Amino acid sequence: MNLFDTHAHLNDEAYDTDRDEMIQRARLAGITLIVNIGFDLASSRQSIDLAERYDLIYASVGIHPHDAAGTGPGYLEELQELARRPKVVAIGEIGLDYYRDLSPRPVQRKVFLEQLALAKKLQKPIIIHDRDAHGDMMDILRKEKLGPAGGVMHCYSGSWEMARELLAMGFYLSIAGPVTFPNASKLKEVAARAPADRLLIETDAPYLTPMPYRGRRNEPAHIIYTAAEIARVRGMEKENLAQMCAENGRRLFRIA
Ligand code: NI
Repeated sequence: MNLFDTHAHLNDEAYDTDRDEMIQRARLAGITLIVNIGFDLASSRQSIDLAERYDLIYASVGIHPHDAAGTGPGYLEELQELARRPKVVAIGEIGLDYYRDLSPRPVQRKVFLEQLALAKKLQKPIIIHDRDAHGDMMDILRKEKLGPAGGVMHCYSGSWEMARELLAMGFYLSIAGPVTFPNASKLKEVAARAPADRLLIETDAPYLTPMPYRGRRNEPAHIIYTAAEIARVRGMEKENLAQMCAENGRRLFRIA
């Protein structure tokens, strides 16, 4: 197997007692690459530290909409410094979250727009988080346009109609553990219809644990269940699906 987990949070305290063993289990399960995702300045630094310690880990740096209200005046300069470090492959996760509304919506939009501009300036792909904000998200993306470095909608949760518009803009779609849930018919449809060259897979570990471990802590090794379900709905062998998604991830994040 050649599996690429394009979105994980392995600096999370959920792994403080067994991080090395968890990463070893990922290797044994056939995971060859992981992008570890920052959500504020501190976790972005931790993400870079992890990438420097483990050969299979790369990092992204960014401010999550939950943390938008916590940014100080110099945050964008600091983020730019971090983004220039070796093994940083993307700006993310950035976006809008109107489900939990942990930052005021105008602040979420401001910090998102500032990071979109930074990613364009640095020619880095973007990793977008969009939860219950599809209307505003699409309005912003239609206006701002995706830069040539591209981007991905992480843990995609929209309809096939929205997916088609994102694909036309140039986005990749990343599918996580919820595709394994029995009632996830919309997501299974997207997984089945997405073009072969635009599909990524991810765990979002420690969150979004796939069946049959739903409800427990997630980890990259569990990505195999997500790959197996997507392969099933596409009528493919899971090894081929894994290989295809790994190649897509390497192309987007420019990992040789
Ligand atoms: Ni995430």
